[in-house]
Amino acid sequence: MKYLKIIGQQPLQGEVKISGAKNAALPLLASTILAKNSVNIDNLPNVVDINTLLKLLEMLGSSFEKTSNNSICINTSNIHETKATYDIVKTMRASILVLGPLLSRFGHCEVSLPGGCAIGQRPVDLHLKALEQMGAIIEIKAGYIIATAPNGLKGATIVFDKITVTGTENIVMAAALAHGTTKIINAAKEPEVVQLCEVLKEAGLDIKGIGTNEIEIVGTAQKLLEFKDFSIIPDRIEAGTYLCAGAICNTKLKITNVVASHLDAVLSKFEEMGFSIQKDANTITILPAQKIKPFKLTTTEYPGFPTDMQAQFMALATQAHGVSIVDENLFENRYMHVNELLRMGADITLKGHTATITGTPNELTGTDVMATDLRASSALVLAALVAKGETNIHRIYHLDRGYEKLEEKLEGIGANVARFDE
Ligand code: EPZ
Repeated sequence: MKYLKIIGQQPLQGEVKISGAKNAALPLLASTILAKNSVNIDNLPNVVDINTLLKLLEMLGSSFEKTSNNSICINTSNIHETKATYDIVKTMRASILVLGPLLSRFGHCEVSLPGGCAIGQRPVDLHLKALEQMGAIIEIKAGYIIATAPNGLKGATIVFDKITVTGTENIVMAAALAHGTTKIINAAKEPEVVQLCEVLKEAGLDIKGIGTNEIEIVGTAQKLLEFKDFSIIPDRIEAGTYLCAGAICNTKLKITNVVASHLDAVLSKFEEMGFSIQKDANTITILPAQKIKPFKLTTTEYPGFPTDMQAQFMALATQAHGVSIVDENLFENRYMHVNELLRMGADITLKGHTATITGTPNELTGTDVMATDLRASSALVLAALVAKGETNIHRIYHLDRGYEKLEEKLEGIGANVARFDE
């Protein structure tokens, strides 16, 4: 296994170019199961989770060619297998995103139940209940979801009890080839869901309500779609993470290839803390605060404050002058970074899903810490950038799942970071 060694308190400056969004690319790759033609995809982040899904699609019978480090041409017309096996699904629970398109196109599929992960139990009951409402017969057997819809899926009105991002994405893709019209009420409206809907609309799907909580889709009755080429939207969470790097070191930092409007809740939180934000069409610059102020944040669905930025802001809260409060409402165990931050000298107490962080500006000290999940790991990187001395972050395979060229981007702004073998 590898670990990252970071020497803290280096002066950061310059620019970071943001990569394509992992959480947009995953549903979009799965959606190519609905395509009759080859699809060219650009700005694809070269990260582990993307390569895992490409491997799964290949195992099912798809073929793809890497036309550059960040672009592919994929063709799924020869899919001959509809079983997503445990060995691959266990490494990435977002593999569940092949369930909807496979079932809608072939009328049957088997997908290993995705296990939970460090941040929570991560059930998929809402995905399955919605598919049953569309006429699917769902059986759970020996850890597999066995789904059949011999005459294809039929349109239905789906009301999600909870807003679910991949649940919405799965049902949008299932509805695309269904017989009849599907209405999704209480749909997720994250930018990644919006891009999936836009790409399907470009492919000829009759879809309304994109970007709202109510999406209506007229299915093609199992006729495949003619996809247009597309480019993955920038990763708003990677963007927010690098802005936190500028904020935690209280220095000016510019990020490019970003859609500022995808980060409204995060940018206003920076301003509440005393940082200044300058933005234009595809760049954001963060400027130092006179004095970093504490904040209160509550994670909620888009356009509210994203849960995927909670850990990074908790690291940032250690540099505020005063007491910050973080409420994590989406996942029941998304505080795995707290113990590691405590080891670095942070002052954090947990009560239920509320964390209280008493700022200890310039008092974090480097030590050995352990990454536990993707976003917790990025919080440890941020803390290491501002900590005195050397921090070794172990199990950084978590980071490699969602942050492309991490060391290169950090070194590019002056950080002292290197990767070593354990
Ligand atoms: C997506 O996960 C993201 N992953 C997550 O990002 C992100 O944290 C999450 O949305 C919330 O924004 C991808 O897009 C690949 P949910 P997802 O279904 O779809 C409950 C990262 O760091 N729920 O919106 O799995 C669930 O337990 C990852 O990149 C059910 O109860 O999240 C949670 O409490 C981490 N039953 C809430 O809904 C279901 O069937 C929201 O989960 C589905 C979800």
